[in-house]
Amino acid sequence: MKTNLAKKIVVASGKGGVGKSTLTAGLAGALTGLGKSVLVIDCDIGLRSLDLMLGVREMVVFDWGDLVLYRCEPQQAMLKTDGPVLLAAPLSNSDAFTRENFRGLVKSFENYFDYILIDAPAGITGGFRLAVGAADTGIIVATPDEVCVRGGGIAADEMIEMGVFNPRLVINRFSKKAVFRDRLLNIDDVIDAAGIQLIGVVPEDGEVAFCATTGRPFPENTPAGRAFKRIAGRLEGESLPLKL
Ligand SMILES: Nc1ncnc2c1ncn2[C@@H]1O[C@H](COP(=O)(O)OP(=O)(O)O)[C@@H](O)[C@H]1O
Ligand SMILES: [Mg+2]
Repeated sequence: MKTNLAKKIVVASGKGGVGKSTLTAGLAGALTGLGKSVLVIDCDIGLRSLDLMLGVREMVVFDWGDLVLYRCEPQQAMLKTDGPVLLAAPLSNSDAFTRENFRGLVKSFENYFDYILIDAPAGITGGFRLAVGAADTGIIVATPDEVCVRGGGIAADEMIEMGVFNPRLVINRFSKKAVFRDRLLNIDDVIDAAGIQLIGVVPEDGEVAFCATTGRPFPENTPAGRAFKRIAGRLEGESLPLKL
């Protein structure tokens, strides 16, 4: 048992496919690299991906749905990866997956970890509300295009409405070249449009995509790896400049 309770952080977005799960896995790896204990909870019911990204796909027998339904012991659902511990997402929904039950489940782990990262599904309905309801802070992920940023702003408003105050923004897949060619928004535009405080910028990085699909740990010495590390440092209270 630890003396401090885990920081419970939900990772969400408006639009799908913007890099929530990638950021969750990368951030979890960076935090464990700082010596922190991290539990990752995949909340994308029916579309789980973190078991794959964290290289434990073959190990999944039980998921957090089995815990809510009392079908297994916590140890049986806790998957040890190279970095964090993972609770995989259930493959189908159940009436038992209420906000109260999920919140209770997440709370039952808060004495044992420094961080609990909850990877939300896209959109602002069912699974999003489940994930947000169990968190005390939030990260909104957006890629630098208008539709995605607008969606991120809406998700942030929804979070605040639900009592998760001061969500932070991560701009993912940033590329200076695309901004230069007027293809995508620049960082100031994104912050203004989303209306929330920036905690990090993760560059476009092919290595990240490769690792995510093969389950290899994200290397620390790539542009995205360094960005995950800086975001982890900022969560730990370090004041690090925004480097691109
Ligand atoms: N910084 C990045 N650079 C390159 N590809 C990325 C980056 N972040 C995410 N991706 C790719 O984008 C796709 C969607 O990412 P994912 O994390 O699954 O998004 P979400 O969880 O929001 O649906 C994946 O193929 C992933 O590898
Ligand atoms: Mg995802």
